[in-house]
Parts: sequence; C-alpha cells; structure tokens
Amino acid sequence: MSQNIVVLPGDGVGPEVTEAAIQVLIAVAEKFDFSLTFESHDFGGAAIDACGEPLPDETLSACKAADAIFLGAVGGPKWGVHTKRPEAGLLGLRSALNLFANLRPVKLHPALAAHSPLKEERVKGVDILIVRELTGGLYFGEKKREADKASDLCEYSKFEIIRAARVAFEAARRRRGHVTSIDKANVLETSRLWRETVTALHEKDYGDVELRHELVDSAAMKLITNPGSYDVVLTENLFGDILSDECSVLAGSIGLLGSASLGAGTQGLYEPIHGSAPDIAGKNIANPLGAIASVAMLLRHSLGEEDAAKTIEKAIYTMLDEGMRSRDLGGDLMCDQMADAVIGWL
Ligand code: NAD
Ligand code: IPM
Ligand code: MN
Repeated sequence: MSQNIVVLPGDGVGPEVTEAAIQVLIAVAEKFDFSLTFESHDFGGAAIDACGEPLPDETLSACKAADAIFLGAVGGPKWGVHTKRPEAGLLGLRSALNLFANLRPVKLHPALAAHSPLKEERVKGVDILIVRELTGGLYFGEKKREADKASDLCEYSKFEIIRAARVAFEAARRRRGHVTSIDKANVLETSRLWRETVTALHEKDYGDVELRHELVDSAAMKLITNPGSYDVVLTENLFGDILSDECSVLAGSIGLLGSASLGAGTQGLYEPIHGSAPDIAGKNIANPLGAIASVAMLLRHSLGEEDAAKTIEKAIYTMLDEGMRSRDLGGDLMCDQMADAVIGWL
C-alpha cells in the first residue's frame, strides 16, 4: 500500500528545499522498498496568487486526507502583513488539523562546532528538543483592531497545557530525563496556570522525569551561555517560536533545523523551522538540510519507517563530516548538490 504525502512547497525558498528533500525521500523509499505518492497543492502566497486564499478548501481537504504533510515555507514581502497573508494559511492549517505539539530538535553536529558564533566549548554536545505548544496562546486568541488601538488575547486552558506537557515528559523519558518548562509566571496569568498545571502533571504522572521551571527572559540568556544544561524545553506558542530561532544558531544555521507538528494521531505536518528566506530565494543556494531533517521526522512519526529516518539522519551526519557545506555554513554547494550529497550517503 502506498502512503500519501501532501506537499505544500509554498513561497520563497520553499519550493527549492522541498524539491531537494523529496528527492531524498524518493531515494530512501526505493532503498527500503516502500511506496509513496506525492500530491502538490497551492499554499501560502502562491495560493493567494492562484485563487485569493492562503489555505484553499481543496488544499485543506487534501491535507486532511493525507498520511503526512510536508511544507516548505510561506510568506514574503510581496504579500505584506495584510489580513489575507500567507502566514494565516499556516496557522489555519495547524489549527484545522489540531497539531498542538511542535517538536524542534536542536543538535549540534561536532563538525560544525567551529562554525557556531558561540565559543566551541559552550556549544559542544548541545542536544535540545524544543516542544512548542502550537495551537493556543496569543497566536489564536481574539484579535481586535481600532484606528489607534489593537489587542491580541492570550488564553490557555489546562487541557491545552496538559496535552503539550505530556509530549514533553514522554520525550524526556526517551532522552536524558529532564524537562525545563519556560514561562513568564512572574507577570502573566496564563504562565501561572501553565506552571501550576505542569507541576501538578509532573507530580501525578512523571515523577521519574526531572522538572525545572525557568522564566523566559533569563532562559533566553541561559540557552546561549549554558545550552548544555537543557534536554527537553517545554514552552508556549510565542516563546517557542522565538526561542527556537535563537537556538538555531547553536546548531550552526537556521537552515539545518527540521520540525514536526503533531496532534493526537499519527498524522503530522513537517517543515523546516526557517521561513521563505526572500533574500536568497530563487538562487538554488538555500540549505535544504532542515527540510531533509523534516522528512526524516515524517518517516519516523507518521509513516513508522524508523530505519529509513535513521538512514537519512546518518547520511546528513556523514556528508557534514566529509566537509560538504552550503553557503550558510561557509561552503559553496548549491541546494540541489546538498541533496545529491545526502542521497549519495544513504
Ligand atoms: P527566514 O527564516 O525566512 O530568514 C532569516 C534569515 O535566515 C535570512 O537571512 C535567510 O536568508 C536565512 N535562511 C533561512 N532559511 C535558510 C536556509 N534554508 N538556508 C540558508 N539560509 C536561510 O525569516 P524572515 O526573513 O524573518 O521571514 C521571511 C518570511 O518567512 C516572512 O514572511 C515570515 O513570516 C515567513 N516565515 C515562514 C515560516 C514558515 O513557513 N514556517 C517560518 C518563519 C518565517
Ligand atoms: C514558524 C513561523 C510561523 C510561526 C509563522 C510563519 C506563522 O515563524 O513556524 O516558526 O510564527 O509559528
Ligand atoms: Mn518562527
């Protein structure tokens, strides 16, 4: 039986990095002898241009029916920040599919330690999993706009906090057994509920996992000064968005990081954490490794193909070991050549 993957290339470098990663998926499927079908759909700015909506009904129906969804990136200066903006399509999709937990692994490849803007001894051994709550908080609260006044409501329910926290505790059990929950409980009511709820869940079900709470401002500093002290980071939607871009420099480049957005079942949405990178779009110079790492996560979480996922991760590891680098990592390999190098090491 063939598994159905909906591909949403999106905007900017999105089409380049998704094409590169799909070549890797095709090669790995051949190697492990499983069958995949790919269906591409309009999404984001490209969909606004085609039919006036960032998330057309037909795209949403295809995503609902898919085994997994693979997205490049959306947005760009062409579409600005108006109501019908590409980013609204992405939020609509996360919400419609109830993808409440976003996993963003940040792992430093030893060969890239010298490439980090931080001192080598600080970043050595960095291996963090960010679990970002993805369908609540400021992103989805009521929005109001008057001529010279605006507001975004930040709301969280216990239910939303518990389901995201469970993902973090379960992941910690499979890793080094430590969760840092990041909030702003000294100021925000939602953060006080967050802290109380995570603490209660920890006491009830996860006593074997170590839990620490940190305030987001000092955590933003500690993630840079002492990144080795983090295993799983659990946080709410906006903090997770900001901290994950910050953490990408620990790994060497934002172009390296993949992500999985998961709900209650096996279906998921997989995307690199970077955006459409309008400054380098259309030049075949984007780093596709974040997209390729995302398809490895897709194989693992949605298709149950753990061996194929590991094989891709090992190939990424080996090609970096061999010194193959895209421009963001100080090399000269083009986007498609990076994918070819991964395929060569599969
Ligand atoms: P960005 O992540 O697109 O780019 C930030 C910087 O990182 C740029 O200098 C860019 O060239 C570089 N970069 C990003 N991806 C790279 C890659 N694969 N290889 C090499 N360098 C890479 O962030 P931005 O410029 O703030 O946002 C641009 C647009 O993307 C905005 O419209 C934003 O809303 C959107 N965005 C979309 C997503 C998504 O689709 N998931 C995520 C973030 C931002
Ligand atoms: C991300 C992006 C999105 C977010 C935007 C494009 C809506 O920055 O996936 O990190 O803020 O979640
Ligand atoms: Mn972001």
